[in-house]
Amino acid sequence: MNSKLKLVILLPIAVFALWASYHVYELDLGKRSFARLGCASCHFSGGGPNLSTILPQYDLHTVEDFIRDPEDVYRRLGRKPLNPGFAIMHKVKASDHEVRAMAEYLKSW
Ligand code: HEC
Repeated sequence: MNSKLKLVILLPIAVFALWASYHVYELDLGKRSFARLGCASCHFSGGGPNLSTILPQYDLHTVEDFIRDPEDVYRRLGRKPLNPGFAIMHKVKASDHEVRAMAEYLKSW
């Protein structure tokens, strides 16, 4: 095989491998942040909307905004939590990267 052909074959494989390992890393960061910040203590115990039934209808960007400030998204979309009567969600202490990773993690279910 000449070296140009090798490059044409190997480069996409290398790019895909990089992308795949980054994606795995992102999902893992999202999972760890979700656990560290205790999201499940509200969202899977009845203290907040059940995320697995709600999130599929939103794009990644909206999910990120939800994590930063749910009230703001409700105002923007003109809707309220599915089960009103919850205590308000606290501001999440996470970096932008962690918020994006959590959104990707939640969207991956
Ligand atoms: C103290 C309980 C609590 C914790 C901890 C919590 N949430 Fe929430 N979350 C809520 C409540 C209550 C709502 C609904 C509305 C509100 O804030 O008024 C909500 C709303 C949301 C929504 C919007 C759901 C929808 O469609 O209405 C998302 C997404 C979300 N939370 C993600 C997270 C993530 C991710 C974390 C962890 C970083 C987290 N929440 C931590 C209580 C909590």
